[in-house]
Amino acid sequence: EDIPSLAETYIDYFPIGAAIEPFQTTGLISDLLKKHVNWLVAENVMKPDALQPSEGNFTWENADRIVEFAKANDMELRFHTLVWHSQVSDWFFIDLDGKPMIDETDPEKREANKQLLLERLDNHVRTIVERYKDDIISWDVVNEVIEPGTPDGMRESEWYQITGTDFIETAFRAAREAGGPDIKLYINDYGTDNPVKRDRLYELVKKMLDKGVPIDGVGHQTHIDIHGPSVSSIIESMKLFSELGLDNLVTELDMSLYSWNDRSDFGDDIPEEVLMKQAERYQELFEAFREHKDILSGVVFWGIADSHTWLHSFPVNRTNAPLLFDHQLHAKPAFWAVVDPSKLP
Ligand code: G3I
Repeated sequence: EDIPSLAETYIDYFPIGAAIEPFQTTGLISDLLKKHVNWLVAENVMKPDALQPSEGNFTWENADRIVEFAKANDMELRFHTLVWHSQVSDWFFIDLDGKPMIDETDPEKREANKQLLLERLDNHVRTIVERYKDDIISWDVVNEVIEPGTPDGMRESEWYQITGTDFIETAFRAAREAGGPDIKLYINDYGTDNPVKRDRLYELVKKMLDKGVPIDGVGHQTHIDIHGPSVSSIIESMKLFSELGLDNLVTELDMSLYSWNDRSDFGDDIPEEVLMKQAERYQELFEAFREHKDILSGVVFWGIADSHTWLHSFPVNRTNAPLLFDHQLHAKPAFWAVVDPSKLP
């Protein structure tokens, strides 16, 4: 298909990326990636459970495939993610007696467990950052630690229950020490447009920066849908963090065809007007991104084509089409909306 390159179209604005699995480094998908994006991120294979499934046993093979693909094609890679409450192996949180750390009630043992967990984390972060620091500049250090509904706005993960916010501090400091001053360290989350969540994130980041924790920027996942949230709320959030001197990245962009609590399924027949509505919203979003390129330094999609997306199985199994290319890897109206709206049907 003789169509413009997405990344080239945006060359004067910001890099464009996509999340991929190792199998997508070959075949037609890899050609699509090479043509349209200049950044990549691993969708799953750089997560804690993938890289250190058991203590001291680091498994690099899948991650290395993506590193090699990026290098061979002059693409930059982002790292996702050093710390997360999900896709992390249980061994991190098991104490030396084989018991879950969160069940411990004795204060002295709790403190010892905390130190043990922070040591394990420190080692996880340093080992990975040392291996990839020359290949990867941009790092998601912690992912999804904010939960607006809790008393102090922190997700009550095992990390948090055992260490408080110390795991965040440890992860950022270890990454900086191992990676040096040039790598960029991000705190990544979804729903950062929601004012309540955004302000909780802001409070945490401010507190960390005041303590000298090396945070360079905020990753806004931006898993949105064709009905919401408003583009202005997305931009407002970026403005707020840029006032703190932080960088902003859109790290996991996609646009579901269904609103958040809708469980319906278009099946094989996605109505034309739904795809046009999606295109309209993508157009509005990217107009705003271009206008605010000074506070936004990259836009990464969570996938490249509708043939492979987490939204086929979340929150239920159904047809979804959140990206710019369709199941057959052809450009959708959403692609033209972002690249050249005059070509829209
Ligand atoms: O690796 C196993 C495989 O061995 C097993 O046979 C198979 C059977 O279900 O599961 C495989 O694991 C799946 C894994 O993806 C790798 O494909 C998990 O079931 C599946 O739940 C997991 O989903 C990923 C999800 O994170 C996990 O929370 C999605 O692919 C991935 O797109 C998604 O990405 C997250 C970001 O990391 C953070 N932000 C939200 C985003 C979307 O949920």
